Amino acid sequence: MAARILDGKKLAETVRAEVREGVTAFKAKYGRAPGLEVILVGDDPASQVYTRNKEKASNEVGMRGHLHVLPASTPEDDVLALVQRLNADEATDGILVQLPLPKSIREQRILDAVDPAKDVDGFHPINAGLLASGRPRLVPCTPLGCMRLLALAEVPLKGAHAVVVGRSNIVGKPVAQLLLAEHATVTIAHSRTKDLAALCREADVLVAAVGKAELVRGNFVKPGAVVIDVGINRVDAGNGKTKLVGDVAYAEVAEIASAITPVPGGVGPMTIAYLLQNTLTAAHARAAGST
Ligand code: GUN
Repeated sequence: MAARILDGKKLAETVRAEVREGVTAFKAKYGRAPGLEVILVGDDPASQVYTRNKEKASNEVGMRGHLHVLPASTPEDDVLALVQRLNADEATDGILVQLPLPKSIREQRILDAVDPAKDVDGFHPINAGLLASGRPRLVPCTPLGCMRLLALAEVPLKGAHAVVVGRSNIVGKPVAQLLLAEHATVTIAHSRTKDLAALCREADVLVAAVGKAELVRGNFVKPGAVVIDVGINRVDAGNGKTKLVGDVAYAEVAEIASAITPVPGGVGPMTIAYLLQNTLTAAHARAAGST
């Protein structure tokens, strides 16, 4: 039987509508709009699209969103100075530094400089540590989006075996923490995992977040499993054009899974929706003086 398609585009609209209402209430209470500052360094085409979308989406829900575009040659200290200026700016609630940064800039140094209270990506070690110790504050956006999609699928997570393929700080590790918090039994697999297909076949919930086009094949999936595909890979479409595919071989897996996210239109739109939610969360925490 064909899997249910988990429509992230539609669900993201619902989340954005929730945030829009929240922004209206925030403005009424505090007399200002939540502020999101997005920093792009360099001219990576995909990052240009993502950051423009983030700025646009924030303004669409009534926030004050602003994109800073810096040339790839910008010295590390200048990026750091911008982050520090935004840390000190009262009207800024959220700061997002788009990754990847140019090779000449030490990513960790920049991310560690973001005020944890304004870290709407949830990448700061303090926020990662709070999540890992079961006291989440600002949580990475893509994992939050994955969890909302699992809620849409109405999959019981308590006692379920969740296999997360990928161990990045952006997706793999935080989504594993969130699944654990929902009482799933969680296995994190990665490029050195032995017999990945057999391990994945044990999963009730399979999250693919490795950035390898169509790595997860039909024989990786237990019948009836719920599959969340975080991958966004650009591949040759064979007609002189390119196309986007996920980390999951969609057509094969959709025959076996009970529910699956498409690419595009699955996890991707949810990431931006939860960036908006995190910005509102950060704005509330700052306005209430709790951070
Ligand atoms: N690059 C790819 N995904 C992300 C993300 O979620 N946040 C940031 N800042 N950069 C990214």
